[in-house]
Amino acid sequence: MKFFIDTAKVEEIEQAAAMGFLDGVTTNPSLVAQTGKPYAQVIKEICAICPGPVSAEVLAIDYAGMMKEARMWSQVAENVVVKIPLTGEGLKAVMTCTAEGIPTNVTLCFNATQALLAAKAGATFISPFLGRLDDIGLEGMEVAQEIKSIYHNYDFKTEVLAASLRHPLHVKQAALLGVDVVTIPFKLLGALLHHPLTDKGLQIFLEDAKRIPMK
Ligand code: E4P
Repeated sequence: MKFFIDTAKVEEIEQAAAMGFLDGVTTNPSLVAQTGKPYAQVIKEICAICPGPVSAEVLAIDYAGMMKEARMWSQVAENVVVKIPLTGEGLKAVMTCTAEGIPTNVTLCFNATQALLAAKAGATFISPFLGRLDDIGLEGMEVAQEIKSIYHNYDFKTEVLAASLRHPLHVKQAALLGVDVVTIPFKLLGALLHHPLTDKGLQIFLEDAKRIPMK
């Protein structure tokens, strides 16, 4: 399973890379806006740190505008993946990107039939937003399971990228389902690592070790 970091903050991406958990990066307009930096600069900086796929989202909502941005992003760095919203215009753009060899990440997916259409359009990645479904009282993980089954039934090559993950249980459940990728906020990476019994156990070992004769 690949680990992507869901952030536009260069410091967080550098830290994830130093920890050895950086297979890729997802950004979205809200995350880029938090940096206060120009859009293209942020994406270039991220691509210079992360050799894996880096998602940059189009801002246009019409096909022509999306294609203009998609072609622009594909020139910025070899590893840019163009993130396109799951709309009718978006899927048309995904089909054209597929034909032109531009990798895509179809975003804002909230059910399995949307994901089916994205796969038929040739999406490289599909991003179901699991946490946002949970937020409104639905079972995000059920949607991920349905997408996995449908893609398996028809041998679609589109990778399932579990997005909008909020806590370690989401990551565990996504891994048990066998999703291809999880994208996680930086603070969740820390939460995956931390366990109070690990800290307590280590403290005890270090204390006890003081009584071990070293010679
Ligand atoms: C994924 O590509 C999105 O950027 C992200 O996971 C959205 O997460 P949120 O629902 O926490 O904003």
